[in-house]
Amino acid sequence: MTSADLGDPCTSTMQMCKPQKTHKMAPVSRCSGKSFRLNQEQRPLKIVRASYQYLYDNANAEYLDCVNSVSHVGHCHPVVVKAASATMECNITTQGWDIDYGDIRYPVKLRQTLPDYLDTFLFCNSGSEAVDLSLQLCQLYTRGTDVVVIDNAFHGSIDSVHHLSPKVFKANNISKADWVHIVAMPDLYRGQDPGAVDKYISDAREVVQNIRHTGKKIACFIAEPMLTVPGIIIPPSTWVQEIYKMVHEAGGLCIADEVQAGLGRIGSHFWSFQALDVNPDILIIGKTIGNGYPMASVVTSREIAAVLGDRIKEYKCSPLMDAVGCAVLEVLEKEHLMAAAASVGSFLQDQLKTLQHQHEYIGDVRGKGLMVALEIVWSKESKKPAQEVAEQIVHRMKDEYVILANEGCNRNILMLMPPMCFTKDNAISLVQRLEKVLSELPKHRHSQDDTAHLSPMPQASQSTVCEGRLGIIQPQEEEDDDGEDDSSSSNKDTMDLEYTQHSYQDLD
Ligand SMILES: Cc1ncc(COP(=O)(O)O)c(C=O)c1O
Repeated sequence: MTSADLGDPCTSTMQMCKPQKTHKMAPVSRCSGKSFRLNQEQRPLKIVRASYQYLYDNANAEYLDCVNSVSHVGHCHPVVVKAASATMECNITTQGWDIDYGDIRYPVKLRQTLPDYLDTFLFCNSGSEAVDLSLQLCQLYTRGTDVVVIDNAFHGSIDSVHHLSPKVFKANNISKADWVHIVAMPDLYRGQDPGAVDKYISDAREVVQNIRHTGKKIACFIAEPMLTVPGIIIPPSTWVQEIYKMVHEAGGLCIADEVQAGLGRIGSHFWSFQALDVNPDILIIGKTIGNGYPMASVVTSREIAAVLGDRIKEYKCSPLMDAVGCAVLEVLEKEHLMAAAASVGSFLQDQLKTLQHQHEYIGDVRGKGLMVALEIVWSKESKKPAQEVAEQIVHRMKDEYVILANEGCNRNILMLMPPMCFTKDNAISLVQRLEKVLSELPKHRHSQDDTAHLSPMPQASQSTVCEGRLGIIQPQEEEDDDGEDDSSSSNKDTMDLEYTQHSYQDLD
């Protein structure tokens, strides 16, 4: 199915979407993060409009978008666009006056998807801001200072939040803050022995106990309940439940960051914490709830929110957030997108698993609903991450009009997190093209030593020295201004000296 079958929502906004005569593309190095660079460096993509799960370039070629999860219900969905523009046409903003905006419906609607105790909604403009606000709430409420995070996590791109994001501080040679403590991520692809889950739990217990023994107090544990950023790791529920228990016993709060995995994407539940049967004290949502419009929310209990005192009124839902947020929920419901995510997602995984049996490079296929990861390795036996092969696949798939991205700390994981309107036909088309690309790769490659068979990849732009936001001078590639996708493997050797790498093997 193409966007024409769905009714192209861009027609009404075509004037805005069309490239203007004077339009100049920003240089590649300024406009793309690492995971998207491969789509830009050779035969740069000039995407000028988008519709549902499709992107269109300036020659009107249609690309299947398998990565833009932010456009949750579909790029430029007409219901969302209409709600936003209708509100903007009559909305007044003022400083200092109290305007009666009428009923704000969004928190009421959102509350219907949540447990009763999560009854207070604080709105802001980005996930990063929501994480920062959550940290403030936890520190004020518990009087604790220290925070437990998961290895390779990413929670946003502002200063305080960089400290909570090992993905950022490891890749940028930034010293880990002494109030931040890292637990290993439960990588059950590599840690497959029967005792693995217990090892991961005891690692976390040790981290929490160490904080207590040094006389420090935990403010919170923050994590994506299902870890999308490090490569779609679905943790065992006992591991999450045990950490929540330990942190609560130590007087801390638990924050669930659902910026990526929430809003029905996993198919079985509206929020991923529900699938793991845990009760976070604070829920962070963002990006997807606005289908790209910048809005986010910290959802918590009245009791916890009360620590903000009078400041609470700074976090109201604006009429525009209200209109956009409600429209997204309405589309999700009317188009049955959560149920579709469950069925299309499991169909896609089944197809990919068939492909996995035929191709040595696909080490693992995993995920839930419409978040699926393919781990690309040099061989199934060694499980050695094969970044070069993953890059080659991303690059070749672009020629096949499919947009993918290679993510994870070794950049060898192909992440499939498309808009939720992605169909079974899209899944078939993706798998067919992937099969074609994989069959072109040389077979039986067991090591990364011989990469000569792979077509030469575009070189990353020259390194420059720039000043990090934490005041640290570091060599960094030019275009890392989005805070994402920073785990360059080339930086590994010079990783933060204070930081101890956790891997499954380290837990023995
Ligand atoms: C898991 C997670 N949390 C928080 C954020 C930060 O959200 P924002 O980019 O809206 O600041 C991101 C951004 O990608 C994210 O992936």
